[in-house]
Amino acid sequence: MKLLVLGGTAWLGHEIARHAVERGHDVTCAARGRSGAVPGGASFVDIDRDDREGLWRVAGGRWDAVVDVSLQPGQVRRAVRDLRNARYYLFISSGSAYADQGPAGQDEDAPLLPPLDADIMDTMEAYGPAKVACEQAVVEAFGPARSMIARAGLIGGPGDGSGRTGYWPLRFAHPSDPSGAVLIPEGPDLPTQVIDVRDLAAWVVTCCQEQRGGVYNAMGESRSFADHLAAARRVARHEGPLVTADAQWLHARGVGEWAGPRSLPLWLSDPDCQGMNARSNKRALDAGLVLRPLEETLEAALEWEEAQGPDRPRRAGLTRDEERELLAALSG
Ligand SMILES: NC(=O)c1ccc[n+]([C@@H]2O[C@H](COP(=O)([O-])OP(=O)(O)OC[C@H]3O[C@@H](n4cnc5c(N)ncnc54)[C@H](OP(=O)(O)O)[C@@H]3O)[C@@H](O)[C@H]2O)c1
Repeated sequence: MKLLVLGGTAWLGHEIARHAVERGHDVTCAARGRSGAVPGGASFVDIDRDDREGLWRVAGGRWDAVVDVSLQPGQVRRAVRDLRNARYYLFISSGSAYADQGPAGQDEDAPLLPPLDADIMDTMEAYGPAKVACEQAVVEAFGPARSMIARAGLIGGPGDGSGRTGYWPLRFAHPSDPSGAVLIPEGPDLPTQVIDVRDLAAWVVTCCQEQRGGVYNAMGESRSFADHLAAARRVARHEGPLVTADAQWLHARGVGEWAGPRSLPLWLSDPDCQGMNARSNKRALDAGLVLRPLEETLEAALEWEEAQGPDRPRRAGLTRDEERELLAALSG
């Protein structure tokens, strides 16, 4: 298969290209090259998709499949125009495309947000509408049989630069408090749903090989927060105490949820957000998505975090000092 990855220099695109090379495909990655290098065995073509004619270097290729990780509607509208001779187009979308993040168990037929009209998404608030606009451009140009929309849920595992899936195994492996205590939020039954980047990438390549059409929630198994933490503790061999704080107490001290600095990652207490971690992935599983056990994902995330240096500034979670202070406040 002659595969064009629009991207391939960052996390997921790189992993997709790597899998495809490993399976013996002829892989080209097209990007600016600012986010990193492409995997060994793949060719790199320097393009700038913000340039209206930026795809000219790859437009003439006879691509069996194109994979696109963009989030800018204008980039995708121009790509489907310039690559219309490709046999197949797979777009990486997101669960953020859905209009309602509250109810659990929703499948691919759940209503979507209105699409973004503009070509450029300039704030992350427009991320969901931008992904919907990208999806529409792809399906309009290629039709449902020659295109696939993979709506990814939270992606985790080795290389997770957002710091979300590495936080808990790393924290359990290196508790900030000499007692070994780790601060966790209340909410054992809150859902979490993580797909390993390697599982997602492998399935994307398979779908390109099969030229599979349709829309799929490309998501992991939904597990309770308590289950997720238990898996992270097993991986980190943590046997110290867990110290639980409730949402009100944590919020009052400026501790955030889900992601970002001074947060407890993956924790999402708002009932209007529970559904984003509890979507149905049945259609994708029926279509060949294979999910590894969560422990393997967290083990690889931990290994990656350790290799980056556990004390480096991270994009998500509490610093060791922040956690120690909060634990002291709770015990005092
Ligand atoms: N992380 C999650 O949990 C999560 C959840 C749901 C969905 N997703 C989706 O998963 C995908 C993640 O993909 P990723 O990790 O490979 O990519 P990414 O971090 O979103 O990077 C974007 C890619 O596009 C390239 N790019 C950006 N601007 C460009 C331009 N003007 N011209 C040419 N290339 C450009 C970048 O390369 P250069 O900078 O080198 O040009 C990079 O390879 C995204 O579609 C994201 O929306 C992620």
